[in-house]
Amino acid sequence: MDRVLVTGGAGFIGSHFVKRLLKAGSEVTVLDALTYAGHRENLGDAMLSPKLTFVEGNILNDQLVDHLVQRHDAVVHFAAESHVDRSFFAAGTFLTTNVLGTHTLLDAARRFSVERFVHVSTDEVYGPLVTGSATEQAPLLPTVPYAASKAASDLVALSYFHTYGVPVCVTRSSNNYGPAQHPEKIIPLFVTNLLKGKGVSLHGRGEHVRNWLHVEDNCQGIELVLRGGTSGEVYNIGGGTDLTNLKLTELLLGECGAGWASVGYVADRRSNDIRYAMDWSKIADSLGYQPARALEDGLAETVDWYRRNPDRWAPLLRNPTAPTAQVRLLAKPGI
Ligand SMILES: NC(=O)c1ccc[n+]([C@@H]2O[C@H](COP(=O)([O-])OP(=O)(O)OC[C@H]3O[C@@H](n4cnc5c(N)ncnc54)[C@H](O)[C@@H]3O)[C@@H](O)[C@H]2O)c1
Repeated sequence: MDRVLVTGGAGFIGSHFVKRLLKAGSEVTVLDALTYAGHRENLGDAMLSPKLTFVEGNILNDQLVDHLVQRHDAVVHFAAESHVDRSFFAAGTFLTTNVLGTHTLLDAARRFSVERFVHVSTDEVYGPLVTGSATEQAPLLPTVPYAASKAASDLVALSYFHTYGVPVCVTRSSNNYGPAQHPEKIIPLFVTNLLKGKGVSLHGRGEHVRNWLHVEDNCQGIELVLRGGTSGEVYNIGGGTDLTNLKLTELLLGECGAGWASVGYVADRRSNDIRYAMDWSKIADSLGYQPARALEDGLAETVDWYRRNPDRWAPLLRNPTAPTAQVRLLAKPGI
């Protein structure tokens, strides 16, 4: 698998993954439409590598996709609309990109016989779990348009294995964090606001639980699946740290040198799943995956990146289409 096509390689996780593949000696082509979430800068010095080809284009463009897929041994598919809040007012875009875009890639992978197609997905497809954890066999019960579009694309991808023998693997990871994430997501949103001396707002009482996984740990898991996964299989990638949003906020306040006076509360957003949890023993036992980053170290590294790179995130905060649900400060903390 020396020549790898990475879709969405200018986004948050995709750009970390591309750098990882280049270090491993692979030739990489990035296909990215450079939506509001994609930036060449995310690839940094990797853009100078003779082993990297950057193609600005849409995964829905079947002629372009055909042209690229036939020149590669493997496809790792990150490109997606990825922000839940946006999916509330642009569900059609999510379905088009995430489902039909995935189908365009799969169809090319079928016709040009790639050796591996890794479809990158999320724990959100399992829906909320009050207790216990979802194995790869758990039912898909998504509650928001983003998660529904990912669940649909997972099923289309797996159907291409069963129907046509396309060597598909699906990865489902928990919430990623790390340097250079778009500031619409909760960690960079809170960090950038706190670094600017502004307030942040928690949904409800901040009781929702998420598993926080460093982006490099997810990339480790995806690379293991790319090189050693079994076709037709799904791999949960977890092992981060479970935190309520309240506890996460406490840690971020500490890292940013801010206090609870900076925190307010807003009404819970619609369909805000109370808790996600996955059993990730399959990838640990079969491929030797083990997350390596402690949360405290990862958060310190992440906050440090935002401190040192305001030129990278400040312009993104002015994006007029950015969702506003989490940025209003309504009340002083009552806890
Ligand atoms: N961020 C997380 O915590 C997380 C967790 C689990 C799974 N995932 C999944 O991982 C993948 C990457 O997530 P991310 O956080 O890096 O997302 P991101 O929003 O940062 O990046 C998405 C990238 O896809 C590109 N893109 C969007 N539509 C495109 C199109 N039609 N054609 C070509 N490129 C297009 C964007 O320009 C951007 O570079 C997504 O599939 C997401 O569902 C993310």
